[in-house]
Amino acid sequence: SIEAVTLRTILDSRGNPTVEADVIVNGGYGRAAAPSGASTGRYEAVVRPPQEAIPYAYNTVIPQLVGLDSRDQVTFDRILHEIDGTGTFEGIGANIAVALSLANAKAAASAIGIELYTYLGGVYADEAPLPLGNVIGGGAHAPGATEIQEFLIVPTGASSTEEAVFTNALVHKEVKKLLTGRGITCGKGDEGGWAPQISDIDALGIIGEAIDTVTDETGVTVGIGLDVASSELWDGERYAYRDISRTTEDQIAYIADLVDTYGLIYVEDPLHEEDFEGFSTLTSQIPDNCLICGDDLFVTNPERIQRGVELSSATAVLIKPNQIGTLTDTFEAVSLSHRTGMETVMSHRSGETTDTTIAHLATAFGCIYLKCGIVGGERIAKLNELIRISENFA
Ligand code: PGA
Ligand code: ZN
Repeated sequence: SIEAVTLRTILDSRGNPTVEADVIVNGGYGRAAAPSGASTGRYEAVVRPPQEAIPYAYNTVIPQLVGLDSRDQVTFDRILHEIDGTGTFEGIGANIAVALSLANAKAAASAIGIELYTYLGGVYADEAPLPLGNVIGGGAHAPGATEIQEFLIVPTGASSTEEAVFTNALVHKEVKKLLTGRGITCGKGDEGGWAPQISDIDALGIIGEAIDTVTDETGVTVGIGLDVASSELWDGERYAYRDISRTTEDQIAYIADLVDTYGLIYVEDPLHEEDFEGFSTLTSQIPDNCLICGDDLFVTNPERIQRGVELSSATAVLIKPNQIGTLTDTFEAVSLSHRTGMETVMSHRSGETTDTTIAHLATAFGCIYLKCGIVGGERIAKLNELIRISENFA
């Protein structure tokens, strides 16, 4: 049973404070940290500043957790909801909740002496997801760079996790080389993607060229995806790009054209977070081999996913545990998605720590992709953990 719980403030990758939890049980312990978003969805669970939320949790939450059986995750998470009482973690903070909930699962796994992905996924969790990584980016993660937030790649032809991870890294390097060759200098965005001041169309061209070079060298095919994060572009009536504003109809036609022209296999948040109908129109127009994924649309919330199922809004669901606040809620979101024929993509946030829990969750839950960047300490922590996990699947 749970003997002690510690919360502390640690640094995240943007230099902001975030919460880390330790759960100590008889014979083991678990540690997890909360990430944070920059382009957060309106319907996400609510984050509270650590300096207020931690003292509150010591007074109100932790006394009720000590003594629980950490193996009963459902009860642990139900108690978090009961103490909170708001449904959206406004009371205790979703950052506190997610750190506690994940740390508890890790403590239980540790006491039994097995890996988290095995504890949660059992013997049939025997495949690692492919890494989906951000190679060029802009938007809220690098203002002034591209208008679309993330240009993503996924090594569809890789035959091992190690090969998959290194293929993405090769494309990332090749993109830098091509940018430099064109006299374009740039830094990186919050998730480690290059942040050049180029158009979205030029970004797609450069990535296509980089992939051709890498595929020629390695034989590994690589697909291209986008996270449009279009709630950030939506002004209430139109999608406001720098030099053009698009109606919903224009936006759907624009995205469908990009999918067709560049053979995209993944598009996240092509329309804003309220537009279940627009998502549905787009999903019906594009080929089956391109996933349409809802992030701000669904916010890992089973009720919103259910609405998307009824309207056929998407073919994939982005899963961010801190959008909903507990592991049990996260599992329910994944399980509903899979039952209704949708793929799931386990995802980092733009503000991250070196916590590697999502690599385990993506494997345990059978997600198609793990979206966690390509380079940068807080991103490679997860990719390297995925390589370690995959060693068990020979
Ligand atoms: P965020 O962005 O973590 O800043 O919300 C990531 C995403 O939109 O997928
Ligand atoms: Zn997104």
